[in-house]
Amino acid sequence: MTAADLNTGTGGLKIRGLHKHYGTFTAVDGIDLDVPEGSFFALLGPSGCGKTTTLRMVAGLEEPTAGEIMIGGKDISRQRPYQRPVNTVFQSYALFPHMTIFENVAFGLRRRKVDGVDAKVKEMLDLVEMGHLAHRKPTQLSGGQQQRIAVVRALVNKPKVLLLDEPLGALDLKLRRQMQLELKRIQTEVGITFIHVTHDQEEAMTMADTIAVLNKGKVEQMGAPVDLYENPRTAFVAGFLGQTNLLTAKVVGTSGDVLTTDFHGIKITMPVSRMAATTQEVEVGVRPEKIHIAELGEAPVGRNVVDGVIIDASFIGVSTQYVIRTLADAEEEITVFTQNSSTSLRRVGETVSAYWHPDHTFGLHEGAWQEAEAAEVAS
Ligand SMILES: Nc1ncnc2c1ncn2[C@@H]1O[C@H](COP(=O)(O)OP(=O)(O)OP(=O)(O)O)[C@@H](O)[C@H]1O
Ligand SMILES: [Mg+2]
Repeated sequence: MTAADLNTGTGGLKIRGLHKHYGTFTAVDGIDLDVPEGSFFALLGPSGCGKTTTLRMVAGLEEPTAGEIMIGGKDISRQRPYQRPVNTVFQSYALFPHMTIFENVAFGLRRRKVDGVDAKVKEMLDLVEMGHLAHRKPTQLSGGQQQRIAVVRALVNKPKVLLLDEPLGALDLKLRRQMQLELKRIQTEVGITFIHVTHDQEEAMTMADTIAVLNKGKVEQMGAPVDLYENPRTAFVAGFLGQTNLLTAKVVGTSGDVLTTDFHGIKITMPVSRMAATTQEVEVGVRPEKIHIAELGEAPVGRNVVDGVIIDASFIGVSTQYVIRTLADAEEEITVFTQNSSTSLRRVGETVSAYWHPDHTFGLHEGAWQEAEAAEVAS
């Protein structure tokens, strides 16, 4: 056993070089993952990127074309599904309609002839505060309640890893948000490793300790939600997680930790570590909420400043979204989100200075804006 295996504990998941081909089509294209024991891990990506296929290979419902899957340092790739220390919750909860809630939860335990079924089921129902509904049938529960039962029905078997494939997909938005918090609470309480598949970036960011962003069968980037959002290393991640501005610029040099780029004669700087490209032509990125608007020429010193004309202003309640066309290049636009306070409203047609802190700037390879836009549409 290597040191890396020890880190994953008995319930950690490690995947190496995982591939799945269907004929000539590659659904999963060489995935490596390290999921520490007890963590809440999200696989995030657009429809068709290979999330379900990956999960099904971990569960043993699909055979990998190549690669290794280990739980607690032990290779489980050749084990039958029922031998693996995992349970899966699918989007359609598939509760048994003719059984009571109690019997639904007890099902796996009875089949494995486990002792103390009553106490174990009760403990699980109490975990989701549904003990009083134990005698009901699934159709007599709301969508959210059924979803909770589907989760505890899997958890009662004490898997080392719980796999969740878009378990909240069937719920309306409000209930979905409630259940995200509820699932997170349950995970913290039971301490089991959760692998949660979703195409909803907000959901992944709310719930997960670590997110792997998948695109076309590959991991684009993996990290804590804040890290992925603030420091995207690919255009896909920048566009899929929230909105971003990208300006085409040239690298002119570095000095210490500061990298300087040139956007039509305007100097835009950033920390060297936030530049993902190695070419001279780059895209300079900044998130819309990081940008402030000042009267023309009134931006504070030490900031990146781009002047432009406000061509659109949309009031969205808590914030206003401005689109600014840069004076330097009429093809380039900057989106700005400002919180609504009484002084912040500006008019279409005003010429202003948009500014932001260099630390909020990141750099991607040239042409990244096209991929980022496509990712934004897919998100
Ligand atoms: N049995 C199969 N035969 C052929 N192609 C398949 C098969 N199963 C999945 N695929 C293809 O593999 C790709 C990945 O599918 P997968 O179900 O893993 O996507 P996903 O990320 O879960 O998407 P969604 O968010 O829509 O559920 C898709 O293009 C899909 O059409
Ligand atoms: Mg899927």
